[in-house]
Amino acid sequence: MRTIIYKITGNDTADFKAVESAAEIIKSGGLVAFPTETVYGLGANAYNPEAALKIFKAKGRPADNPLIVHILNPQDAENIAYTNEIYYRLAEKFMPGPLTVIMKKKLNIPDEVTAGLDSVAVRCPKNHVARKLIECAGVPIAAPSANKSGKPSPTSAEHVADDMTGRINMIIDGGGCEFGLESTVVKIDGEKLILLRPGTVTAEMISRAAGVDVVISSAAAGKSEAVDAPLSPGMKYKHYAPSAKLSLIGGDDSDVLRFFELKLKINERCVVLCYDDEAETLEKFAPQIISLGERSDIAGHSKKLFSALREADKRAADEIFAHLPSSEGDSLALYNRMIRSSAYTVIDL
Ligand code: TXA
Ligand code: MG
Repeated sequence: MRTIIYKITGNDTADFKAVESAAEIIKSGGLVAFPTETVYGLGANAYNPEAALKIFKAKGRPADNPLIVHILNPQDAENIAYTNEIYYRLAEKFMPGPLTVIMKKKLNIPDEVTAGLDSVAVRCPKNHVARKLIECAGVPIAAPSANKSGKPSPTSAEHVADDMTGRINMIIDGGGCEFGLESTVVKIDGEKLILLRPGTVTAEMISRAAGVDVVISSAAAGKSEAVDAPLSPGMKYKHYAPSAKLSLIGGDDSDVLRFFELKLKINERCVVLCYDDEAETLEKFAPQIISLGERSDIAGHSKKLFSALREADKRAADEIFAHLPSSEGDSLALYNRMIRSSAYTVIDL
C-alpha cells in the first residue's frame, strides 16, 4: 500500500483540501494517521467494524485492547455512550483537551472497536487538524496511538512514518505534539471515578471538577503487580518500550550523575537521558546523551520522552539510563510511562 504524507502548510485552502481527502479515506473505510495535542492517532470510521479491524492489523495490536473514539463536541457522545452528569462536568472543564472518559456504550459502536467490552472510551481532542478531520469525516473516529504495538507512541509525523509506511493510506503531518504523552483515561463507575491512565489532566483536577472521589487504579499508579488485574486492557501489555533495555536511576543528584558518567565511560553504546545541567558535565560523551530539558520542567520531559526513546534506538543503543521521576502530583503520568518503558527496572543508589 502507498502511504501518502501530507504536511500542513498553513495555507488554509490547501490544508483544508488535504484534510478533506483524508476524511474521504476515513469515510471509505481506510486508515489515516493524524496529529492530536497528546500523540499521533491512527484513525478509522468508528461505525465501520472492518475499518476498525484494519487498525489492529496495521499496528499488530492484540485483539482484546479497545480503541478510543474521538468526537468533535462533548454532546456527540450521546450517539455512542450513556452519558451522565459527571461526564458533562468533566467535559465542561477539560473538553476539548487531553482527557478520555469511559462510559457504557450504545449499540451503534461495533464490538470490534471496544474489543467486545460493553463500555466505550470517548475523547474530544483539541488539536485543530484532528478536529477538522472529525468534522469533515462526519463520523466519530476510532484511533489508538499511531505506533506499532509495543513501541513508544509517536509525537511527530516522522515517528508515524517510521512505523506505519506501507501499512496505512495517509499521514497528516501537523508538526510536533503539544503534550507528548497520551490522554488521561478515567472510567465513570456509578457515582465514582477510576483513573486508569494518568496524563496531563491529573486525578486532583478531575476530582475537583467532577465533585466526586477518584480512585487511582494500581496500573495507573505504576505498580508492577497491576499487570494481572487489567481494568484497562491496554495496561497489561508491554508498552512504550525502546529496543534497548531502559533502567531508571534514583538517588542523590551527584550520585546519579557519577553513575551516568561511569556507564558512559565503560559502554560506548549506552545512551543516557539526562537534564540540561548534567549535559554540560557529560559533554565529552555528546553522541551518547540526550537531554530531556531543564531539571524541574516536567512538562518538557513529558513532551520529549517518547522521541528520546526512539532516538536512542536510532543511535543503536544497547542500554538506556534515565532519572527515576517522582510519582507525585503532575509527575505521575511521566513516572507511569517511564516505569512501564523500563519494565519496572529501577536502580536505587
Ligand atoms: O492521547 C490519546 O489517548 C491517544 C490519542 C490518539 O487520542 N490515543 C491513545 O490510544 O493513546 P491507545 O489505544 O494507545 O490507548 C488507549 C487506552 C488503552 O490502554 C486501552 O486499553 C484503553 O485506553 N481503553 C480504551 N477503551 C477502553 C474501555 N472501554 N475500557 C477500558 N479501557 C479502555
Ligand atoms: Mg497506544
